[in-house]
Amino acid sequence: MRTAESFQIGREAVEKLAAAYGSPLLVLSVDQIKRNYALLHKYLPKVKVHYAIKANPHPAILQTLKEAGSCFDVASDGEIRTLAAMGIEGERLIYANPVKTEAGLAACCDCSVRKMTFDSASEIAKIKKVCPGATVLLRLRIDNSSAHVDLNKKFGASKEQALGLMLQAKEAGLDMAGIAFHVGSQTITADPYLQGMDLAAQLFEEAEEAGLPLRVLDIGGGFPIPEHKVRFNLREMLRQIRARLDEDFSRAEVWCEPGRYICGTAVNLICSVIGSNERGGQPWYFLDEGLYGTFSGVLFDQWDFKLLSFKEGRNRVAATFAGPSCDSLDIMFRGRMTAPLEVGDKLLVPECGAYTSASATTFNGFSKARFVVWEEAAPGLGL
Ligand SMILES: Cc1ncc(COP(=O)(O)O)c(C=O)c1O
Repeated sequence: MRTAESFQIGREAVEKLAAAYGSPLLVLSVDQIKRNYALLHKYLPKVKVHYAIKANPHPAILQTLKEAGSCFDVASDGEIRTLAAMGIEGERLIYANPVKTEAGLAACCDCSVRKMTFDSASEIAKIKKVCPGATVLLRLRIDNSSAHVDLNKKFGASKEQALGLMLQAKEAGLDMAGIAFHVGSQTITADPYLQGMDLAAQLFEEAEEAGLPLRVLDIGGGFPIPEHKVRFNLREMLRQIRARLDEDFSRAEVWCEPGRYICGTAVNLICSVIGSNERGGQPWYFLDEGLYGTFSGVLFDQWDFKLLSFKEGRNRVAATFAGPSCDSLDIMFRGRMTAPLEVGDKLLVPECGAYTSASATTFNGFSKARFVVWEEAAPGLGL
């Protein structure tokens, strides 16, 4: 079910853009970024959005969100310094990596980033030493094996550890402000968020009783985008989340950290067939973009991308699609149904903005796909 509108260009635009700018090409809609941000803001009006820039740090996305008033979730010194160089104040950032590097903490000092998460005693000591008095949120573990990417295998304190760690942080002179959780990426029901909020509400109560009033709840990211064969209703999810926030956290400040939802539907990839062969009785198509490029999301994000060919006819074949490098790992899709293709044909990959170009490499000397920014009233592109 399409619950969120996606940006998708048509055949004519694909041809024109490829002719003008070459292939592979990433087409970014800043208007879709604005629409996604506005929808979250509409359904969760009291929640402060912190865009998780790891999902796609393209400067036009960051600038659009800066102008929209967004805050940002960062995970490294590089991300902190990128935003600082754009004039984004440190108070709009949360350093939401529970295990911080020395360089990351130094960047916090240089760029006035005072908000961060932690999930261990060792992190409290590190923060105390470099950023004394910092405002901290305890990252809580949420069990949600149904998420597309389960982030709780790596981070998060258990409920049993939580109060002790929060008291330790207070003891260390930190501003122990609240609780953060992440239900896992591409979560398609409200249930894990509601479970997280149940747990957080209990901890808010326990902390209050222990003389440690909390004031911030961070419900993380995880909001979904359209996915092949997956049904969900984002607006209904957000309504349920909002109702629970109003019920249990009306006096708290609430933050969220969406990555995929903000940028996933805002980018289209145009790529081309550069070779074909028949192997093992199946057609193989070699593309000018592969696992080491934008399709890195197949590996790192286990994402199943749509491939649109604009070819007419009902005669469809099961084909293998591989990237341009000499590595035999560089195969993206096997047995994918497609119209028969020829060298030079263009393919369009919609919903290609999250965890794609961000993890692309230049392995084997292939350049990363170039970006063009699509603005709906963009006479310059002649579209
Ligand atoms: C701490 C944190 N916040 C936010 C995000 C963004 O998650 P998503 O893209 O699922 O919204 C991530 C993703 O890894 C994360 O680790």
